[in-house]
Amino acid sequence: MKTLDDLIKHGGGALNGRRVLVRSDLNVPLSDGGVTDDGRIRASLPVLTRLVEAGARVIVAAHLGRPKGAPDPAYSLSPVADRLAQLLGRPVDFALDTVGESERLLATELKDGEVLLLENVRFNAGETSKDDAERHEFARCLGFLTGGEDEGGAFVEDAFGAVHRKHASVYDIAKLLPHYVGDLVRDELAVLTRLTGEPERPYVVVLGGSKVSDKLAVIESLLPTVDRLLVGGGMCFTFLAAQGHEVGDSLLEPDQIENCKRFLDEAGDKIVLPTDIVVARELSADASTQTIPAAEIPAGTKGLDIGPESVAAFAAALAGAQTVFWNGPMGVFELAPFAAGTKGVAEAVAASGGLSVVGGGDSAAAVRALGLDVNAFGHISTGGGASLEFLEGKELPGVAVLEEV
Ligand code: 3PG
Repeated sequence: MKTLDDLIKHGGGALNGRRVLVRSDLNVPLSDGGVTDDGRIRASLPVLTRLVEAGARVIVAAHLGRPKGAPDPAYSLSPVADRLAQLLGRPVDFALDTVGESERLLATELKDGEVLLLENVRFNAGETSKDDAERHEFARCLGFLTGGEDEGGAFVEDAFGAVHRKHASVYDIAKLLPHYVGDLVRDELAVLTRLTGEPERPYVVVLGGSKVSDKLAVIESLLPTVDRLLVGGGMCFTFLAAQGHEVGDSLLEPDQIENCKRFLDEAGDKIVLPTDIVVARELSADASTQTIPAAEIPAGTKGLDIGPESVAAFAAALAGAQTVFWNGPMGVFELAPFAAGTKGVAEAVAASGGLSVVGGGDSAAAVRALGLDVNAFGHISTGGGASLEFLEGKELPGVAVLEEV
């Protein structure tokens, strides 16, 4: 796999006159037209800065949310362009479309060291199409913005959060242009690789989030390797139900009870479940809450966070762990009454002393939203789904394609 060092071989000015298309993951949460968590934008800066400093004419392609293959103002990258310009400390041209006439003009008018951000690539149906030809055609249009290989065009894959998607701007484009792995993707892969194979022990994995069904494959693949699997979040209720407990109105996936039973039968000694739960009658910021034993959740109430006894047990399991992977919040951390479990576990992950990896998505957002020190963690991944699929042992299309010459 060729790296950015291969592309920028000769230092400053090495890429003068060349148009480089970078796929970044700028899929950040927005509220009232502003970016509420700029973690992914910050993570994209090192590669963009390196390219700019090498004199490249940088065209950034990215997605936001899941629009339906047509322009939708709710998913415009416009607020992201503003934040990117602020953080990059230089102007960012924002294209109002992806690969139209005006984008071709903007791309050809770029000067050395200038940056152009295209509008959300998912505004074009070709980006996510299952039809190879349709995807390929959109990729061809994206590639055209660089002038193509003959004019020095190149592609840099830096969107770690999207490499599990076989999408035009992630996968097909690499088949059309000389391609390079961005530093973010390279670093993410290097850290996640340390979690597979022979991780340093004890190896503790913490899983949360709402659905067991989203985590089945990763549980299957990690359970034989880990020393402890701590389960919180909405998904713990299906495990509690599998143990025969009533879970009241808590999140439950009845069709997953059998799978949870099987996990408990096969590796019950490794799986740690909460012993107390914060419950409320409704999910609201001013709900009145109660902390009760996990085995006794009454009808009419729902579990919305793990309790302090569980946090202490999870922290004890994490103390001294040499390798930790955490994915998924322990409760509805966005609302103050249900944030303590996620905060406590996040602090214990950070304090564990070994390599602590936060698996992107909601857990990374929680670290920042709860005001925790991001530097206390060994690595905060920018990819939720991508990091899980990597740990499941699946091939990541956006990475596999970079291996091709
Ligand atoms: C993410 O948020 O995990 C990535 O940006 C990928 O987004 P997607 O799940 O909509 O493909």
